[in-house]
Amino acid sequence: MKVTVIGTGYVGLVTGACLSEMGNHVVCLDVDPEKIRILKEGGIPIHEPGLLEIVQRNVAGGRLEFTTDVEAAVAHGTIQFIAVGTPPDEDGSADLQYVLAAARNIGRTMTDFKVIVDKSTVPVGTGDKVKAAVQDELDRRGIRLDFAVASNPEFLKEGAAVADFMRPDRVVVGADDERAILLMKALYAPFIRNHDRMMVMDLRSAEFTKYAANAMLATRISFMNELALVAEKLGADIELVRQGIGSDPRIGFHFLYAGCGYGGSCFPKDVKALIRTAADAGQPLQLLQAVEAVNDRQKLVLVDKVVARYGEQLKGKTFAVWGLAFKPNTDDMRDAPSRVVIAELARRGAKLQAYDPVAVPEAQRVLAGTPGLSYADSARAALEGADALIIVTEWKEFRTPDFEALRESLADRTVFDGRNLYEPKLMRSLGIEYHGIGRP
Ligand SMILES: NC(=O)c1ccc[n+]([C@@H]2O[C@H](COP(=O)([O-])OP(=O)(O)OC[C@H]3O[C@@H](n4cnc5c(N)ncnc54)[C@H](O)[C@@H]3O)[C@@H](O)[C@H]2O)c1
Repeated sequence: MKVTVIGTGYVGLVTGACLSEMGNHVVCLDVDPEKIRILKEGGIPIHEPGLLEIVQRNVAGGRLEFTTDVEAAVAHGTIQFIAVGTPPDEDGSADLQYVLAAARNIGRTMTDFKVIVDKSTVPVGTGDKVKAAVQDELDRRGIRLDFAVASNPEFLKEGAAVADFMRPDRVVVGADDERAILLMKALYAPFIRNHDRMMVMDLRSAEFTKYAANAMLATRISFMNELALVAEKLGADIELVRQGIGSDPRIGFHFLYAGCGYGGSCFPKDVKALIRTAADAGQPLQLLQAVEAVNDRQKLVLVDKVVARYGEQLKGKTFAVWGLAFKPNTDDMRDAPSRVVIAELARRGAKLQAYDPVAVPEAQRVLAGTPGLSYADSARAALEGADALIIVTEWKEFRTPDFEALRESLADRTVFDGRNLYEPKLMRSLGIEYHGIGRP
């Protein structure tokens, strides 16, 4: 099938690459000439495990192309995926300017039937806006052309995006046009061969499903984070509580880890956007407002622990920081807890020696000008000359460090662990002062 993917970010590039892997002929369009240059030169602009190989294989096979040429991209695909960003607007609502610009580009240049599929996370009702924008452009041109609009929210996780796209738990399609439904079924069939996991529903329900999913996951995290604070007061261990409740199949183990807050490009903005949508609809979401407030506070929990240990002023103190990305296996730093932790500690005069396996270039961009912040090129190097260690992201390479070397490097032999990577008892036996989240 001929497919165009508009936007080559985390979602668009993975979608385009994985669809080409199944034999489809895919053209990926982006307005960012730098991204397209990198892709045309055989690289990828993001860190995503396994993606580079798929991109290179399908570019070589002639099934995957990259362009900034809107007209050529629109002409190519019968299916046009919109996978552009939907960042939060000032009032928290999703900013639809990129989605609607993409829709208008299609309407402005299309010459035959198109199925326009919204993959970006968009508020309920956006499908109607996309339809209206395309129709408006066709009217301006004074021509009549048939098209269908569908919603196909994306559930991939950064860091495991290729695997998620290749083996989805479910594929949600919102559409009322039979041709659109048939094309989407054909396109996704190779990804769900083992058993049908496509759910076809109306457009609004599909749009809502994506927000509901992220809101649920964020709620689980904030729930555990809030309980972790109580556990600290009561002398209970949140890790044991997590295992105790996760073993109940009605609850399950996923997304129950207490930590230093959720971040990334999705949960914070999607929770905000859903709060806004609900308020605008006259049905405020009290629970989600609390989820957001709990998370905002939780991003400061490591700072609170450092301040409790060292005092408000941190001049003269040096901290090693392990992990900058909002989660492991990505270089994405959008709304990452590390940004809050680093800004707050720097403001108090601390020196920070940060290390991340892949996110340092991105950190250098988003944290430019932070006083006292420097970067190390290994976890070990970050410890040199530091008083204490702060762990913000649970990269695998941090899970079993050389504890003796770690203790000897840190002047105060102290670890603040925002991801509960280590056993408090083991740390104590090693002579390391250990501050986890919700643990004795
Ligand atoms: N990142 C995730 O893990 C994830 C998961 C599921 C859903 N989503 C949703 O998918 C959407 C995209 O997210 P992302 O993380 O891939 O964003 P991103 O910022 O990484 O990529 C968006 C891309 O779109 C391009 N773009 C903007 N306007 C354009 C236009 N008119 N024409 C062509 N290209 C244009 C940008 O240059 C950018 O490269 C968002 O709505 C997001 O909420 C993201």
